[in-house]
Amino acid sequence: MEKKDQDAESKSAKNISRRGFIRGAGLSTAGSVLLSSNVLAFDYKEQPAKGKEFGPGAMTIKMKVNGITKSISVEPRTTLAAALRDHLGLTGTKVVCDRGACSACTVYLDGKPVNSCIMSALDVGDKEVTTIEGIAKNGELHPVQEAFIEHDASQCGYCTPGMVMSCVHLVENNPNPNLEDVKDATRGNLCRCGTYPHVFKATLEAAKKMI
Ligand code: FES
Ligand code: FES
Repeated sequence: MEKKDQDAESKSAKNISRRGFIRGAGLSTAGSVLLSSNVLAFDYKEQPAKGKEFGPGAMTIKMKVNGITKSISVEPRTTLAAALRDHLGLTGTKVVCDRGACSACTVYLDGKPVNSCIMSALDVGDKEVTTIEGIAKNGELHPVQEAFIEHDASQCGYCTPGMVMSCVHLVENNPNPNLEDVKDATRGNLCRCGTYPHVFKATLEAAKKMI
C-alpha cells in the first residue's frame, strides 16, 4: 500500500471514537438479542441528537435503577455495567466477556433486555434500568429465582444473573412458554458449566406456577 493510502486509512481509523464504537457494538448486540429472543433490545433512534459531545472528564448524570433515581459521576467511556457495579454498588450484574458475547451482564432498559457491558451509561438517558437486584419484590424471590434454586440451575453462578433476567423476561411476557421458547429466550446466554437442562426445566416449572 502506498504511503498516502496508509495515511488516509490511519486517519479514518482515528476518526472512529470509542463512543462511536460502543454505539456500533450496541447495535450489533441489539441485533443478536433481537434474533435470539424476538425482543428489540435497544432503539438508537430514541437517543439524544447526534453530534452532541461529552467529556473527556467525568460528568454527573441521573439514572433510575430499580425504581430509585440516583446521581452518579461517570466518564463518557463508562459502560452501563460499570456504572451499576462500580458507581451504584449493584454487583449482581456480572461482567464476563465484556464484549457483548455472553449476556451475563443482561439488565432491562424500560423492560427490554440489553447487554450492559457494551452500552454507554450516558445513553441510558431517562429510561429505567432494572437489574437482578430489582427482580425480587417485597423480600420474595421471583418464581424463576425460586425454581433455579429448586432445580439446581446454577453452578459457578457467573452466568446466573443474566440467565435469570432472560428467563424472567420470557415468563413475564409469555404465560405459557414451551421448551423451544425457553431455548430461544436464553440463546444469547452462555453457560460454561452446562446448566442449560436445569435452566430450561426451572423456567418451565416457574411459568406453570405463575398461571
Ligand atoms: S459480559 Fe456483557 S455480554 Fe458478556
Ligand atoms: S453456572 Fe457457571 S457459567 Fe453458568
